[in-house]
Amino acid sequence: MLHPASSPARRTHLALATALAASSLFAGTAAAGMPAGESVVQKSDCMSCHAIDHKVVGPAFDAVAAKYASQPGAKQMLIDAVKKGHVGTWGNIPMPPHPNLSQQQLDEAITWILSLKPAAATSAASGKSYSYEVDGKTVKLDFPVFTAGSKTKVTQSVFHGYELWNSYCFRCHGVDATGSEYAPDLRKSVLNGMTDARMTQIAMTGIKAKGMPSWAGFFDPKQMTDIYHYVAARAYHLVGEGTPAE
Ligand code: HEC
Ligand code: HEC
Repeated sequence: MLHPASSPARRTHLALATALAASSLFAGTAAAGMPAGESVVQKSDCMSCHAIDHKVVGPAFDAVAAKYASQPGAKQMLIDAVKKGHVGTWGNIPMPPHPNLSQQQLDEAITWILSLKPAAATSAASGKSYSYEVDGKTVKLDFPVFTAGSKTKVTQSVFHGYELWNSYCFRCHGVDATGSEYAPDLRKSVLNGMTDARMTQIAMTGIKAKGMPSWAGFFDPKQMTDIYHYVAARAYHLVGEGTPAE
């Protein structure tokens, strides 16, 4: 068998990974004319874990505004929370500290967050489900693995997840999500009930003491969902090893 590292496709992935290693894949979307605080938030790692109008790893920013906007002293308290890290107000997932943001950047970021008005209720999950036959069994997922009308061509999300996986995660979790001696087989984690939200939370937070890096500031939640779709497609035997059909 060909060693994966020697295949041309893998070499491209490695070259890509090296080229991007120094910078973030997720550059945010800071643009001219946006409020100073919003641009601080877009350029930092905040949007890996937060969104304006729905919970991701941390609370929705409009929910933070709703909770504190009328509280005197809240601004300074939140500046400290972001600077030093925080846990316990919104659940038991910790927010990491941000020692590199200046007092002015923190002030601008929190001023912007507190200025947000509640967004119109976002539509709940589509509720759609997708069924696939594998080895005589039916697998039901809440996202499509294949493009409409095809039984082999994967969605852009699954394909992109495959590319991201084999550029960033394969190193420890194994080529094509097969697991390795360094880190757990995430297909098993999916079969044991790990959801997209749970994987995003673990990946953005990291488990540094055990050698699992934090990907906050590097990926956005959409990219993490792509990776999840690929790993789940592998877990349910819908996609084999190697490059999936596009
Ligand atoms: C790795 C994920 C992660 C990143 C990155 C992150 N946060 Fe958080 N954030 C959280 C979590 C989780 C909580 C909830 C903490 C708690 O329950 O006390 C939170 C809470 C908050 C709160 C509310 C704190 C409180 O006391 O109620 C604010 C404000 C906030 N984050 C702003 C930011 C800003 C600004 C950035 C970027 C500079 C950022 N966060 C980056 C995960 C993250
Ligand atoms: C440098 C090695 C390394 C890389 C690269 C890496 N991981 Fe991990 N990861 C680990 C280790 C080690 C663990 C096990 C930590 C523990 O024992 O609690 C882990 C655990 C996890 C878990 C928890 C699994 C479970 O069932 O609890 C998830 C989810 C995860 N990694 C996702 C990812 C994703 C997604 C990527 C790519 C973006 C990635 N990891 C890249 C080392 C790595």
